[in-house]
Amino acid sequence: MEKRPTSTLDTSKIATPAFVIEEALLRHNLSILRHVKERTGCKMYQALKAWSTWELFPVVREYLDGTEASSLNEARLGYEEFNHDVHVYAPAYKDEEFDELLRYSSTIIFNSVDQWKKFKPRIEASGKQIECGLRLNPENISKDEHGGLWSPTAPGSRLGVRRTELEAALTEDRDALQGISGFHFHVFWDKTLPDLREAVRVIEDKFGTHFSAVKWINFGGGQMITNDDYDVEGLIALINDFQTKYSVRVHLEPGAAIVKNAGALVASVLDVVERDDVPYKIAILDMSFNAHTPDFLLSRDLDMPVRGARALRDEKKLKGHAYRLGGGTCVTGDTLGHFHIFEKSLRAGDKIVLEDGIQYNMVQCTMFNGVQHPSIVLWKDDAAETLRAFTFEDYKARMG
Ligand SMILES: Cc1ncc(COP(=O)(O)O)c(C=O)c1O
Repeated sequence: MEKRPTSTLDTSKIATPAFVIEEALLRHNLSILRHVKERTGCKMYQALKAWSTWELFPVVREYLDGTEASSLNEARLGYEEFNHDVHVYAPAYKDEEFDELLRYSSTIIFNSVDQWKKFKPRIEASGKQIECGLRLNPENISKDEHGGLWSPTAPGSRLGVRRTELEAALTEDRDALQGISGFHFHVFWDKTLPDLREAVRVIEDKFGTHFSAVKWINFGGGQMITNDDYDVEGLIALINDFQTKYSVRVHLEPGAAIVKNAGALVASVLDVVERDDVPYKIAILDMSFNAHTPDFLLSRDLDMPVRGARALRDEKKLKGHAYRLGGGTCVTGDTLGHFHIFEKSLRAGDKIVLEDGIQYNMVQCTMFNGVQHPSIVLWKDDAAETLRAFTFEDYKARMG
């Protein structure tokens, strides 16, 4: 694989706050994903929940097959702006939305046998060729290091059909799976190949007897395929072996891996506050962590990578240019819980590059406190192109 290009972002050309996507880095990630596709024949769908800047769908479309959508809105976005290969999964579908959902979907994945049975007649009546799938829950696949938020197979999870439930449904009605052409599982977040290997082993063990009845198996997302140290060739081998063993086609739906290390949230320092009771200074930025990096704040144990700085948690070990970054809202906790040691002292006007600010944050932003919403910027050929800037009217329109 080609080496990851280095970022060429010149922050002096960026008006802040801004989510900046670097096209060369995005294409690097996408070329790794396309390599997996080309070597396995698997299908790959962009999980829109992680990042859905649709102006860049034409770029993503050069590499991937279609989109994975979690709602009517995402399905419509994928259909209208990417292509008509839209794979939808949601924990439950709404009666009044379902007919419209059928218009945009090529594949619909159900979370329970009951939901499948409920909507099957409407799919048949639509006359549209739609592939139907069932999400499986192999239970307790991975430990969740981040407070139980990210494990779809944790005890009590509402996601997917467990083996005992599937067997009970088939005992009650042995044709319960008739019309189902694929299975889906999505079992973790931010994991590496050994985790996937283990998950596949458990899934085969629990559900393998049903695989001969379907055409495709969707391995979901959660794999950091585009990380520099990911074992891409190992993934290719795993997919090829699985496809040969069961005569199915594997689908993958990466989200974070598409934009990881391919863009940043760029902010400016507005002021620096010094307190005599703490061994660090506080840099107040023209953004809000609560409003603009909500996904990141869900896992308080993760360090936010900041360009030119080293993250540190232990207050007692702070030395040099130690800062806590704070947002511009009234909330006391609108800060990064941890600290950063910068190479030099910060001053008002300095730019701060939050390296992993895009995935899952951009899609979850709020306009809390009316803080200026970060614009969306494409960095390409050493120039910044603003794809979207947000105004007072956008703020007002969300409030009433
Ligand atoms: C069903 C499903 N597919 C794909 C993804 C994408 O996962 P990731 O962004 O970790 O690759 C998610 C993320 O939550 C998901 O729930």
